[in-house]
Amino acid sequence: MIRFISFEGGDGSGKTTQLKLLESHLASQGEAYRSTREPGGTSLGRMLRKVLLEVGKKEISSPTELFLYLADRAQHVREIIGPALERGMLVLCDRFSDSTLAYQGYGRGIDLDLLRRLNQLASRGINPDLTFLLDCPVEVGLARIREQLKSIGPTDKSAKNEGRTGQDRFEQEEMEFHERVRRGFLELAHLEPGRFCVLDASRPVRQVHDQIKELVDRRLRER
Ligand code: TYD
Repeated sequence: MIRFISFEGGDGSGKTTQLKLLESHLASQGEAYRSTREPGGTSLGRMLRKVLLEVGKKEISSPTELFLYLADRAQHVREIIGPALERGMLVLCDRFSDSTLAYQGYGRGIDLDLLRRLNQLASRGINPDLTFLLDCPVEVGLARIREQLKSIGPTDKSAKNEGRTGQDRFEQEEMEFHERVRRGFLELAHLEPGRFCVLDASRPVRQVHDQIKELVDRRLRER
């Protein structure tokens, strides 16, 4: 039986688009669900999200960043996810504990066992029953983000990238970081094949959606 579905993947992998398409599908089936996201699923979380994404990585140390993501999760599980699951609702979440393992663990090099213990504390031991990993080459994800930024015009995100000295080197470091994150997610999926469904996210959006829809429908019928 599935009650908790998470969507994971690198930046620009299209997981948010896929989550929204699944929402529409579930709504058309009359399925009750609660859709949420990390970071930023609660009002405290939205403040933390602003700090995490707007203050910028340069000013925030890795442990500080970790504790902010964990604080967001702890509040999110207590306020939103836990109560929704207790009411018997199907919960869809854009990123969850696996993002901490991939980004702070594989990406930033924080010990994975320590992260697993901290994740357990933050999530009260709640784990997704099914996790879609939207996997695509790092360049594909980054190209999509650049396209999005172009179409919405200058934003905080693009402004942050302006005027940086040694930008080429910075971009190279970023690429390596995202490569580690990608490999991390794939390794997590390999460790738990029963929970993860790895999808090739470089395919057209509709094709990926059809695969997600088919699996969710099948797993829901098992209830
Ligand atoms: P998200 O809102 O999913 O952004 P996007 O849709 O652009 O991928 O996530 C914001 C960032 O937060 C993303 O770069 C991944 C990062 N993150 C972590 O580093 N650790 C975590 O535990 C979580 C939940 C997110």
